[in-house]
Amino acid sequence: MEFDGRICVVTGAASGIGREIARSLASRGATVAILDVQLAKAEEAAGQICDEGPGSATAFACDLRSVVEIETTMSAVVERFGRVDVLVNAAGLANRTAAEDITEAEWDLLNDVNLKATFFVAQHAYRVMVAQKSGKIINIASHRATTTDGHHLVYAATKAGVQAISRDLAVAGGQHGIDVNTVSPGYVLTPMTEHNLENDEWLTRLQSRIPIGRLLTMSEVTNAVLFLASPSTSGITGQNMLVDGGWTVHE
Ligand SMILES: NC(=O)c1ccc[n+]([C@@H]2O[C@H](COP(=O)([O-])OP(=O)(O)OC[C@H]3O[C@@H](n4cnc5c(N)ncnc54)[C@H](O)[C@@H]3O)[C@@H](O)[C@H]2O)c1
Repeated sequence: MEFDGRICVVTGAASGIGREIARSLASRGATVAILDVQLAKAEEAAGQICDEGPGSATAFACDLRSVVEIETTMSAVVERFGRVDVLVNAAGLANRTAAEDITEAEWDLLNDVNLKATFFVAQHAYRVMVAQKSGKIINIASHRATTTDGHHLVYAATKAGVQAISRDLAVAGGQHGIDVNTVSPGYVLTPMTEHNLENDEWLTRLQSRIPIGRLLTMSEVTNAVLFLASPSTSGITGQNMLVDGGWTVHE
């Protein structure tokens, strides 16, 4: 199978998009390490993935706000599996706060989880991949990195930062056989967004704003990640793949 023998690390895979990515990689033969702060949910996800096979998943508790925890957990993953072929940084937090109400605590939390952790997990994987002379890193950003609405200042800044660090790492990694790309979803139906479905006004506005007239599915985002993570994909690095149903090109 496409990912047979591949060691894949997916952050934030206890839930939502990350979980779907982990499940899909394992369904194609991968061995997946799930890094998440919600250990019980991560273990439940890993159990389901192992039951479905043919690949497997193992849950690792990791609070990504701590660089020390990232280092310890990534070291444990590498010690256990010996290498990292694919890293998907999917953990993230969203918020919606008016600019005048943003607090330092909110700024720090979103930066720590969305941006700082994305880099430090990638840095650890990058060092391993340099020694291997191969690897693929896919960081999940957002359409909010390029178009926003006056209520997503911190989130938009962190996701633009994710795209920026991915480009730099792609340039550095080129000579080492490491591809680094971002996937930027539009609105996807996940535990992060499903509460909005009860808001009729929000849903109607969104359906008219998004050219395909609906929210994206987790498998649509996952398919883009699988394409970039595939051993048969080469020559694509430093790119941002938007899976936004046409949101960003709509006037
Ligand atoms: N859902 C959307 O519409 C949408 C749109 C664009 C981008 N995204 C991005 O996709 C990614 C996944 O989003 P989702 O909707 O699946 O969210 P989700 O809330 O379902 O999952 C996020 C995961 O991140 C984990 N996480 C949060 N803080 C953590 C921490 N400190 N340490 C370790 N793990 C932590 C959570 O435990 C959870 O398992 C995020 O990066 C998000 O910004 C989502």
